[in-house]
Amino acid sequence: MSTNLNIRRTTDSKLSSVDFNNIPFGKVFSDHMFEADFDGEKWTNFQIKPLENLSIHPGNLAWHYGQSIFEGMKATKSIDGEPLLFRPEKHIQRLNASARRMCMPEFPAEVFDDAIHTLVALEKDWIPSTDGSALYIRPVMMAMDEALGVRASLTYKLLIFCLPVGPYYSKPVSLKAETKYVRAAEGGVGEAKTAGNYAASLYPAKLAIEAGYDQIMWMDAKEFKYVQEVGTMNIFFAFEDKIVTPAAGGTILRGITRDTIITILRSKGYTVEERPLHIDEIVEAYKEGKLKEVFGTGTAAVVSFVRKIAYQDIEMNFNVDDYNICKLAKSTIEGLRNLSIKDENDWVVPVRALEPVL
Ligand code: COI
Repeated sequence: MSTNLNIRRTTDSKLSSVDFNNIPFGKVFSDHMFEADFDGEKWTNFQIKPLENLSIHPGNLAWHYGQSIFEGMKATKSIDGEPLLFRPEKHIQRLNASARRMCMPEFPAEVFDDAIHTLVALEKDWIPSTDGSALYIRPVMMAMDEALGVRASLTYKLLIFCLPVGPYYSKPVSLKAETKYVRAAEGGVGEAKTAGNYAASLYPAKLAIEAGYDQIMWMDAKEFKYVQEVGTMNIFFAFEDKIVTPAAGGTILRGITRDTIITILRSKGYTVEERPLHIDEIVEAYKEGKLKEVFGTGTAAVVSFVRKIAYQDIEMNFNVDDYNICKLAKSTIEGLRNLSIKDENDWVVPVRALEPVL
């Protein structure tokens, strides 16, 4: 580790109060967090400390004009109990791509790496080992200037904190193809992992949930014909001889799990196409019995089965018990995450044993 990192440990660990056999997603936080400040010129003040509230001015620019970006990554344990990270370098690359789009300062990759390793080493007992669970790591960067007026902030904060989590979806999901509201148009911020993308999804998602669905399947903003992604994950369709996922061309999130699953499936001999996918192609293949599986991928969702898609008055139901490709994708990524499957791609990174935290 080369980062000058100030570490203060908690004297009041919450670890013993957690039921690791029953962890809800997103509600249990581990003991420590990483914090850094951008002072207008450089990132500074690197520290790990007990998780605590921030004191934020009412005029904070992030709250008013939305300069807020985040990441989601996971730490797991190998079958021998060793703490592991999954493709951490991809997450700092994507965080910095989001930062560029949102006019925010990039964060130095080597400091991010040192921070993640040190924090996860410190929180290693928080990594659950039950099937489908992990330590979810949430880096978030936000504007910190106290001023009104639409402009980029000069100062920022980066925080990284962790949550032991179970599966995001514990059951197969039903989706409504959205034909009124949009998530992202070409030229917009759809590719950035920025808070506003999620805020914009809430109202249409609420309507979809009230209508009996679990989530929205977003369509393109011009014609409402081309599939983009689901509110919480990227999406894959397995037709008879090939798998298709919408191309990442600026309007969808460049999912790291999406990339992992494409690579896994290709290595198993499947054809995976990244291209525009028209809803008529989906409906036609469904009617002809050629659409075999639909599944979502994401850090939180991992690989999640889709059991139903509604598009206007057409309802497509899928028998998830017959899903083979989805099951293979899910078991492979889970096997990689505990190293019960050999990691041929150098995706899995053992957490470095850093003094003085281990
Ligand atoms: C993730 O998959 O990490 C996300 O940020 C999506 C969110 C639904 C939790």
